[in-house]
Amino acid sequence: MATPQSSTRPTHQNPQPTFHDLFPAMAGKLGGEGLIDELCKGFELLMDGDKGVITFESLRRNASAVLGLGDLTDDDVRCMIDEGDFDRDGALNQMEFCVLMFRLSPDLMDASRFVVTEAIEEEFETLPEEALLKMSAPPKSGSPIITPNDLTEADGFVLGFPTRFGMMAAQFKAFLDATGGLWRTQALAGKPAGIFYSTGSQGGGQETTALTAITQLVHHGMIFVPIGYTFGAGMFEMEKVKGGSPYGAGTFAGDGSRQPTQLELEQAFHQGKYIATITKKLKVSTV
Ligand SMILES: Cc1cc2nc3c(=O)[nH]c(=O)nc-3n(C[C@H](O)[C@H](O)[C@H](O)COP(=O)(O)O)c2cc1C
Repeated sequence: MATPQSSTRPTHQNPQPTFHDLFPAMAGKLGGEGLIDELCKGFELLMDGDKGVITFESLRRNASAVLGLGDLTDDDVRCMIDEGDFDRDGALNQMEFCVLMFRLSPDLMDASRFVVTEAIEEEFETLPEEALLKMSAPPKSGSPIITPNDLTEADGFVLGFPTRFGMMAAQFKAFLDATGGLWRTQALAGKPAGIFYSTGSQGGGQETTALTAITQLVHHGMIFVPIGYTFGAGMFEMEKVKGGSPYGAGTFAGDGSRQPTQLELEQAFHQGKYIATITKKLKVSTV
């Protein structure tokens, strides 16, 4: 594998080494598939042959020869493993390594966003295709996909996810687990965030889903913005089934065929506006 040369060592403050980045040139020469093949060869050179993954020891041993990162300290190697280790098993599998290499190459990220997007989509989808089929999971939507680093561009957030056993779905958790680098630099601290959710049934965990998700915000130092009762009369609907609560907007999926009602949509719209107002106020008061 051709070796990008490091000019800046990664640290806990700046976990991403800055390469004299050869990846865009390699991508131009080899094409998307060729580059992935090359990365896979690099993975094999770096991995622990017995375990089939890149461990701290195997990276420490081989980083200099394969990546040209001769002066890495133990801390640097730990940072690199931490940065790429989405499933938090202490090692890098092949997909984690490829995604990490893409993320270390900002120019390549810009040039080949679709390759990265596919890789990330696969990484955060924790269920095999077969299981998704059996669950009648809907086809992938055309919505844009972001990487954890894209979060730094936003002044505020409204995070939404379906419930799995009373808390956020593992796929969303996997995305948040990949924000370790942002946590280290405190890039999200002070940013406001609201939460919205979908459960299958009433009593299926609307509030617990939001409440248990607050820990994610707390660790980043983000500010949880509930809607309280600011939605007014709609909060007291007793005749018709209605999702959502003071914690945020919500809906019920039922057997998958139920769509959000007009009132639930209005509540979600209200939440967006309400959080945008708070975000604006916070932004003005910090400049
Ligand atoms: C493994 C699993 C666990 C779930 N747990 C709950 C639950 O605790 N409470 C609930 O009301 N619905 C639960 N549901 C239903 C989903 O929350 C519901 O279908 C979801 O809101 C719609 O999103 P989906 O398209 O991801 O299924 C669960 C679904 C699955 C597949």
